[in-house]
Amino acid sequence: MKVSIENLTLAYGKNTVVRDLDLEIADGESLVLLGQSGCGKTSTMRCVAGLESPNEGRITIGDNVMHDSSSGRTVPPNKRNVGMVFQSYAVWPHRTVFENVAFSLQMQKVGKDELVSRVHETLDLVGLRELAERGASLLSGGQMQRVALARSLVMRPNVLLLDEPLSNLDARLRERLRMELRELQLRLGLTTIYVTHDQVEAFALADRIALMQNGRIVQSGAPDQIYTAPASGSIAEFLGVGNLFACSPTPGLSGAVTLTDHDFTIRVDATVPDHSDRLLVCLRPEDLTVTPMHEETTAGVGWAGRIDVASYQGASVRYRITLDGGPNIEALATGSSKGALHIGERVAVDVPPGAAQLLVDDRNQLVGALS
Ligand SMILES: Nc1ncnc2c1ncn2[C@@H]1O[C@H](COP(=O)(O)OP(=O)(O)O)[C@@H](O)[C@H]1O
Ligand SMILES: [Mg+2]
Repeated sequence: MKVSIENLTLAYGKNTVVRDLDLEIADGESLVLLGQSGCGKTSTMRCVAGLESPNEGRITIGDNVMHDSSSGRTVPPNKRNVGMVFQSYAVWPHRTVFENVAFSLQMQKVGKDELVSRVHETLDLVGLRELAERGASLLSGGQMQRVALARSLVMRPNVLLLDEPLSNLDARLRERLRMELRELQLRLGLTTIYVTHDQVEAFALADRIALMQNGRIVQSGAPDQIYTAPASGSIAEFLGVGNLFACSPTPGLSGAVTLTDHDFTIRVDATVPDHSDRLLVCLRPEDLTVTPMHEETTAGVGWAGRIDVASYQGASVRYRITLDGGPNIEALATGSSKGALHIGERVAVDVPPGAAQLLVDDRNQLVGALS
């Protein structure tokens, strides 16, 4: 079901943590709320679930107004039909998997036959049918999180809220469960709001990402939109999308910037403002071409440098290169070009036309705003 959050404001005492936030989640959409720890993600979720009472704003699920500060209307959490899964598993250790999942249905006085079939159906969905009679304390972290998920799904929620549900799991399991969650979400056509501070997770799970800073949504869009066009320097930095260098317009040369810390000029595919000392140029590691110095370079203006670090990552190799008289820069080589370069080797680094992006450097501003 569609979820609308309008003008949501929440303060804990004098500390305003959600500020006039607007967000619409379409029916069946997977919306990921992404942002640094402390930016207000969990607080926003808790408002949707009815666990916090907002100072301002309105929350609607489907056609039902769940909260409206102006009229004072508020629907209690257990009447919102919202499922929640948290980072901590919150599974009862002394009960079996079946009992854990059946509990809420029992509370609702669902008949025995229906209860058994719904629990089994849900355990099938999350791949736990075989473990139905196992005590929950004997489960692994990944299995416990599946129980928590099953417990939410068995209630057939209109909206599923997931708050960093994979954070306590190791990397491999996290990756697997992430794929499974995505598959399940698509199969059930379930409207989900997923909270995380992990951009990799956000990119993997989202139809749409809403980026949150300091209690506000600062950018929203499909994962590739956010990745290719971060709206500001602080967002680019948070996403770790590339090499970021402070720069200013190059005097007398339009469409170019000069780095603040090095006498390097870079052409950018954007309108450079005449005067600004608060610009960043962003160069994505995967866009840069790195070739051994002795080979002829083809495109752009090659910079000369030396490989400092070569970090093998399976499908790719990440290089750190110190440019002659310039900054350190990271480059990512994939496919046939990878692995050909060694530490200490002299290389030419090329920036293809259009690869350099210009952003407003709002990073200090943000630190100021947070403190
Ligand atoms: N119950 C609470 N009482 C007071 N302050 C809180 C409470 N819960 C969260 N906060 C504060 O609200 C801010 C946002 O927290 P939270 O929504 O949990 O952020 P996130 O989930 O993005 O990490 C933080 O500064 C946090 O310390
Ligand atoms: Mg949180």
